[in-house]
Amino acid sequence: MKLLIINGPNLNMLGIREPDKYGRETYDDLLKKIKAHCDKKEVTADFYQSNHEGDLVDRIQQAYWDKTDGIVVNPGAYTHTSIAILDAVKSVNIPTAEVHISDVSKREDFRQVSYIRSACCFTVMGHGTDGYLEAIDYLIDNSGEK
Ligand code: DQA
Repeated sequence: MKLLIINGPNLNMLGIREPDKYGRETYDDLLKKIKAHCDKKEVTADFYQSNHEGDLVDRIQQAYWDKTDGIVVNPGAYTHTSIAILDAVKSVNIPTAEVHISDVSKREDFRQVSYIRSACCFTVMGHGTDGYLEAIDYLIDNSGEK
C-alpha cells in the first residue's frame, strides 16, 4: 500500500511555531515518526509539504498518476479557505484522511469551517502528531490490501 502524507502552509515550522498549540516536535521529527510507523505497518509513504495552494493541488493530482492508495492531509490554514484543495481531493477519488494537530473545534470561529472535510473518509483533531498515525491506521484498516 502506498500513502501520500501532505502538509500545508506553516507546518514546516513545527517545533518553532506556537509550541503551546502545535508542540515541540519539529517537522523533521514528524516525518521520522511517520516513517517509523509506516515501516512497522509495511506500507510506503511519500511526503510533501508546501506553503502554496496551487502546489498542494498539483501534488494531490499527481497522486492519481502515481496510483497512490491513500492520502493523509493537514491542509493547515487552507482547510478553512480552499475550495481548490477540496476539488483536487474529489478529482482524484483517493481515500483521504484530514488531520489537525490542534483541536480546531475549540478554536476561533474562522477555524470552524473545513472545506476539505466533506471529501474525507476520516478526520482527527487535537491528538497532536499522533493524529497522523491514527489517520494512517484508518486508511490501512479500511483498504482491501496492505
Ligand atoms: C492546523 C489548524 C489550522 O487551523 C491552522 O491554520 C494550521 C494547523 C492544525 O494542525 O491544528 O496551520 O491544521
